Amino acid sequence: MAKLTISDLDVKDKKVLVRVDFNVPIKDGVIGDDNRIVAALPTIKYIIENGGKAILLSHLGRIKSDDDKKELSLKPVAARLSELLDRPVTFVPENEGKSVESAIDEMHDGDIIVLENTRFQDIDNDFGKRESKNDPTLGEYWASLGDIYVNDAFGTAHRSHASNVGIAEAMKKAGKPAAAGYLMEKEIKFLGDAVANPEHPFVTILGGAKVSDKIDVINNLIPKSDHILIGGGMAYTFLAAQGHDIGKSLFEPDKVELAKQLLKDADGKIVLPVDNLAATEFSNDASREVVGDDIPDNMMGLDIGPKTVEKFKEILKSAKTVVWNGPMGAFEMPNFAKGTLEVGKSLADLENATTIIGGGDSTAAAKQLGIAPKISHISTGGGASLQYLEGKDLPGIVCISEK
Ligand code: 3PG
Repeated sequence: MAKLTISDLDVKDKKVLVRVDFNVPIKDGVIGDDNRIVAALPTIKYIIENGGKAILLSHLGRIKSDDDKKELSLKPVAARLSELLDRPVTFVPENEGKSVESAIDEMHDGDIIVLENTRFQDIDNDFGKRESKNDPTLGEYWASLGDIYVNDAFGTAHRSHASNVGIAEAMKKAGKPAAAGYLMEKEIKFLGDAVANPEHPFVTILGGAKVSDKIDVINNLIPKSDHILIGGGMAYTFLAAQGHDIGKSLFEPDKVELAKQLLKDADGKIVLPVDNLAATEFSNDASREVVGDDIPDNMMGLDIGPKTVEKFKEILKSAKTVVWNGPMGAFEMPNFAKGTLEVGKSLADLENATTIIGGGDSTAAAKQLGIAPKISHISTGGGASLQYLEGKDLPGIVCISEK
């Protein structure tokens, strides 16, 4: 069944509670990457341009003590939002109580307020982690503040917290709508629908350090994919499973049997590196050379090699749907970034294909290459996008009303 979305609702004169994911990197009040704030703009603009009042809720980081509160206030985020929208945004330094209720009472149509970090509710109270443990009274309280609830926090959709799930349940109980925002809708369309019913050939590209992080993704995508291209540290566990020498490369000895099973289940769909850029140590300046799929004892594989890049490119050429999660090597070191960057370029060159990127490093690679505009969708979710690719139901999506 299709989910209710913000465009199904008339927001005029309504107090619209919006759960956004403004969990952005922040240091000394300076935001390192405002991508998640930018991604929430379409929903916020829709509300204010159609005469609604936007009340924004988000978490930021993880709160364990009062000290964390200083570094993890949403105040700088509200200021950045105001810059991006070029209009005033009111920051309320609390998220419960009189100051919040008065600020909402005083709102006019088209106004925006940002409430303080929802995870401040995780300390200093009898319940314990009220937000993260989904205290129902907190969800009910937040729901009481508005007429409509919109969940646009895809990045948090794998969590069942008071500000995303508790609030939605309370809204529905009170007969009020709980809808998806534009970002949530886009994430569902690409990571959910496009992957569940892909246009073929469907190519999955997986990288990153560990097989253990991607087992469920591989299991879920084996039947759907035509090819699964594997690079990064996880490739060495698979190469070891095939009996190759992997030298000093990163690998998970306890996952070798599982890798063997996955290779068997995939029945030829898994494509592993045929050559590697290996180095004597894990350092950008280490002496390096291209080796085959057997790595000398004194070396470790740190990137896919040129023949592998060509092989992957050849497979990608005819793809109609591509999902990419995880770098092809130690991408953070420039001398070992080439494989990841080449894969990114191949995705950007695809015409008439749906291309989807998830995961911090692949997203960083896309940004570094400036190819983001040529990719159909770059997910704002880390853990959420991975769990969605695993085929799991995400509580933050399940709780949204059906149409
Ligand atoms: C994320 O960045 O993955 C989300 O914002 C969720 O954050 P969390 O892992 O602290 O719950």
